[in-house]
Amino acid sequence: MNTQMNIAIDGPAGAGKSTVAKLLAEKLEFVYIDTGAMYRALTWKAIKENVDVNDEKVLHQLLKECDIALVNESGHSLVKLNGQDVTEEIRNASVTNNVSYVAKHPLIRKEMVSKQQLLAANGGTVMDGRDIGTAVLPEANVKIFLTASVEERAKRRHEENISKGMSSDLVKLKEDIAKRDQIDSERDVAPLKQAEDAIVLDSTSMSIEEVVENIYGVIVERDGTVEH
Ligand code: CDP
Ligand code: CDP
Repeated sequence: MNTQMNIAIDGPAGAGKSTVAKLLAEKLEFVYIDTGAMYRALTWKAIKENVDVNDEKVLHQLLKECDIALVNESGHSLVKLNGQDVTEEIRNASVTNNVSYVAKHPLIRKEMVSKQQLLAANGGTVMDGRDIGTAVLPEANVKIFLTASVEERAKRRHEENISKGMSSDLVKLKEDIAKRDQIDSERDVAPLKQAEDAIVLDSTSMSIEEVVENIYGVIVERDGTVEH
């Protein structure tokens, strides 16, 4: 396998991007880069510091004071902010419902995109997000746009919450996901949309394994270094 490849996986919330990207990275022995976690970490910090998520300037200053690191410790992907493990906290409802406002700001996106490009500079990554194929890695070797119906995506999040023993409201989840998709798709800078050269995969009726196998097949096909 060509270890310099970069794989971009974009799509709306709950489509299975992070689950599939993590499994693919393991299979390929590549590094998994969760770009959403970076926007979430800044959002978590903003909420903690009482910073208005609509105030681009103050958020930009806050970002300069944040060292956001995606680290792998004993096989676990952790998100650290100035050395503090925030992996769990960045998934809370407050962060989830505010992150799209933080991610709208051009100055914030510019910084995040530079960081993400640096992380992928040597290849060997599977990166997931909203603008990877269009803005972060326009030269990615494989671009996947992973989607599923909003009903299915809300159901997946609902089941995930229940399995973690958390309370969950399916109707509210669907509304929140649809709202976030709308903000992400309608923003001015690097909105959520499929790259022209992306392969669209609708996972509504696919298992995680089927999605992984499907994308793995595309990667092998694109990779000139393996015989198949
Ligand atoms: O996992 P989930 O689909 O809930 O979202 P995420 O990947 O953690 O991303 C959280 C939010 O960050 C998204 O709804 C976007 O507003 C923003 N985001 C973005 O703007 N660009 C990216 N490359 C990744 C995430
Ligand atoms: O990262 P993204 O928001 O796109 O989705 P995710 O967090 O990877 O997946 C959301 C949930 O859907 C997880 O609990 C996955 O296990 C589940 N899932 C699924 O049931 N079937 C799939 N084909 C993909 C994901």
